[in-house]
Amino acid sequence: MKLGIIVGTTREGRQTPKQAKWVAKTAANIEGVEVEIIDLADYPMPLFAEAVSPRYNPSRTVDSTAQKYMDKLAEQDAYIFVTPEYNHSIPGVLKNSFDYLDWQMMKKPVGIVSHGTVGGARAAMHLKEIVSEAQAVPMSKFVAFSHMSEAIDEEGTISEEVAANPYGPQGALDGLLEDLKWYSDALAKARNETLVAA
Ligand SMILES: Cc1cc2nc3c(=O)[nH]c(=O)nc-3n(C[C@H](O)[C@H](O)[C@H](O)COP(=O)(O)O)c2cc1C
Repeated sequence: MKLGIIVGTTREGRQTPKQAKWVAKTAANIEGVEVEIIDLADYPMPLFAEAVSPRYNPSRTVDSTAQKYMDKLAEQDAYIFVTPEYNHSIPGVLKNSFDYLDWQMMKKPVGIVSHGTVGGARAAMHLKEIVSEAQAVPMSKFVAFSHMSEAIDEEGTISEEVAANPYGPQGALDGLLEDLKWYSDALAKARNETLVAA
């Protein structure tokens, strides 16, 4: 499974990259998982302003940075979006990146890992809806992490105390990754069979 972990913020002094590193470290320990962090800060695409909705425009001309981001997403078998809550939803920069997509994530599984005062849960719920519209398959489980910035260091290492809680974020992430791998394998097989039959 090629797993793309998307860092959903770009602001100066942001905390989300260390949560993404924690996700990447955990996922890299699973056999058969190849991890890549995809940082939106490396893809500074403009605000979406195409004349036609991308999924209804096969001959679209796309901003070159947005196209690179879309190509990077298309390479993956599965995704984890790491997002904080901004004003009870996802950051605008993350929503803007979704507005560009057409079919890159279709029939592929998506996990959500959030943070914020209430674990970023409201952002995570909004993101589930957005992911569905990208024709992807949102996982039922998600990781809502309160006080994330105190529990994870700059290298993405979670504190022993938080990790030891069987009902805490580490257990939740392990469960999410298990589901994601199961769906990724099943959906990749089904996508390949459809291609062979076509
Ligand atoms: C513009 C803005 C809006 C925010 N709104 C919320 C919010 O609605 N709920 C919440 O729990 N935290 C909110 N926060 C706190 C963020 O979740 C927290 O600062 C987090 O670290 C942001 O991720 P970042 O550091 O990667 O930008 C907000 C932060 C910013 C900058």
